Amino acid sequence: MIPFNISCGHCWMCVRGLQSQCETTQVREQGSGASLLGFSELYGSVPGGQAEFLRVPHADYGSVKVGHELPDERYLYLSDILPTAWQGVKYADVPDGGTLAVFGLGPVGQFAARIGRHFGQRVIAVEPVAERRAMAERHGIETLDFTKDIGDELREMTDGRGPDAVVDAVGMESHDSPLGAFAQNAVNMLPEALAKKAMETAGVDRLTVLHAAIDSVRRGGTISLSGVYGGTASPMPLLNMFDKQIQTRMGQCNVRNWTDELLPIVEDPSDPLGVMDLMTHTIGIDEAPAAYEKFQKKQDGCIKVIIRP
Ligand SMILES: NC(=O)c1ccc[n+]([C@@H]2O[C@H](COP(=O)([O-])OP(=O)(O)OC[C@H]3O[C@@H](n4cnc5c(N)ncnc54)[C@H](O)[C@@H]3O)[C@@H](O)[C@H]2O)c1
Repeated sequence: MIPFNISCGHCWMCVRGLQSQCETTQVREQGSGASLLGFSELYGSVPGGQAEFLRVPHADYGSVKVGHELPDERYLYLSDILPTAWQGVKYADVPDGGTLAVFGLGPVGQFAARIGRHFGQRVIAVEPVAERRAMAERHGIETLDFTKDIGDELREMTDGRGPDAVVDAVGMESHDSPLGAFAQNAVNMLPEALAKKAMETAGVDRLTVLHAAIDSVRRGGTISLSGVYGGTASPMPLLNMFDKQIQTRMGQCNVRNWTDELLPIVEDPSDPLGVMDLMTHTIGIDEAPAAYEKFQKKQDGCIKVIIRP
């Protein structure tokens, strides 16, 4: 199993469990953290894993040896979404017996919600797509559709206060964010060099979910961002955040920091996180372009696709 972030294992950051900030592979010319497999120049333009062969820098540290007896899906998600969700829920720091709200039930949100349950939390997940809510409900998770009154709905379910913590597993591609969507579409229409400059200086995310998280979380609660944001000029309600005393944690996942804890859980025959109930489609690599479209448009009940090269 190969993590999506590339880390050396021995620098100042890695020994402190901050592998996504690895000082050996940091992309200094972009001012970014550790290099990532399969990302844009922001994270080093290292060719990614959706290929028949993969060159793996620092493979002596990053690679995790796994068994052959169990199906691949037991281990596959360790490279990215499972530790991402695990870190998101740990950063959410829900008190014992507390309530976690998870926004978004894509692969990351599905796991975040199940991990919250695994830790004994009450979990309420918010997701507009019905089959994604149905999958979460199979794992003991309460669900809500996304509406503009979602903060009120969550407060009603939590003694008027709001959940102790919120994991945002949506990020900058949330639905229902007309202003951010307009800004992103406008940038997409610019020539490449101008678009890059526009994103670096005035990029605006779709903020519906982040703003809903700020509204929903209880006073003194925590917001944990697993979903990726990339705007440099996204407006934030700082008055509200300060007044509510909200704590926020975020960042790329430090994959290798969590794999030793997660390995016995994915190998547990009882499958406590339900890793065998996530994949909806398996395809060959030649079918990938069409599958990307299906995934993006959420057609055909598509939640998680596994590509077998
Ligand atoms: N931090 C990390 O290291 C890391 C690693 C992997 C993925 N990610 C990020 O995590 C996020 C989720 O990844 P994924 O693979 O699950 O993506 P996904 O696109 O499958 O899931 C996002 C889900 O959010 C839902 N959604 C959209 N608008 C919503 C709204 N207004 N309210 C509630 N739900 C809404 C969508 O219907 C979808 O089910 C992405 O931003 C991804 O880039 C981060």
